[in-house]
Amino acid sequence: MNILQINASARRQGGHSTGVADSIVVRLRAQDPGAGLLVRDLASDPLPPQDEEALAALTTAAAERSPEQAARVAIDDALIAEVQAADVVVLGVPMYNFGVPVQLKNWIDAIARAGVTFRYTEKGPQGLLTGKKVYLALTRGGRHRGAETDTQVPYLKTVLGFLGMTDLHFIYAEGLNMGPDGVRQGLAEAEADLAAAFA
Ligand SMILES: Cc1cc2nc3c(=O)[nH]c(=O)nc-3n(C[C@H](O)[C@H](O)[C@H](O)COP(=O)(O)O)c2cc1C
Repeated sequence: MNILQINASARRQGGHSTGVADSIVVRLRAQDPGAGLLVRDLASDPLPPQDEEALAALTTAAAERSPEQAARVAIDDALIAEVQAADVVVLGVPMYNFGVPVQLKNWIDAIARAGVTFRYTEKGPQGLLTGKKVYLALTRGGRHRGAETDTQVPYLKTVLGFLGMTDLHFIYAEGLNMGPDGVRQGLAEAEADLAAAFA
């Protein structure tokens, strides 16, 4: 089993989403002690956005790219290869202003590539990143589970599903900015979700 862990907290140290993602990996490795693990920490190694230069590089034929364009495309190629090689993807996902952190959005923009990770067929779009389990460690300062304010879960289901990743397991740690009791309760709820996901 190859595990790819993506940490999207802006905090290099002490991120709750990273902590819950680490707990998921501990459980996966208990199931398979020989599992490989690649950790990509988006705070330590920030990804570039899909800006005008990136789009120009991607839409230029490989043989005609400048060295700078080739280097820009190579960043996304490496991210795509990592997710293609993974059997299990673990995402640490804080809620920032009701959405996902910009770094996670940059990762998603990098791995979503027509003809490589999805394609359009006569029957509609087809995701090509299939056969993967995805665990998502969702951390929030407030409480949003099941509420309209949780725009993350519909978005993540849509975009990951579009890419072929439909076996999704959501672990919630909420109320983390609601005082020490809120943190205790939020992390206990995440443990309960974890136990259920690995039952
Ligand atoms: C820039 C920013 C925006 C945030 N926006 C929200 C929000 O919209 N809703 C919410 O419940 N918590 C929000 N929070 C709180 C975080 O979701 C919470 O602190 C979470 O634990 C952060 O993840 P981390 O501990 O992995 O860094 C925000 C925090 C930051 C830093």
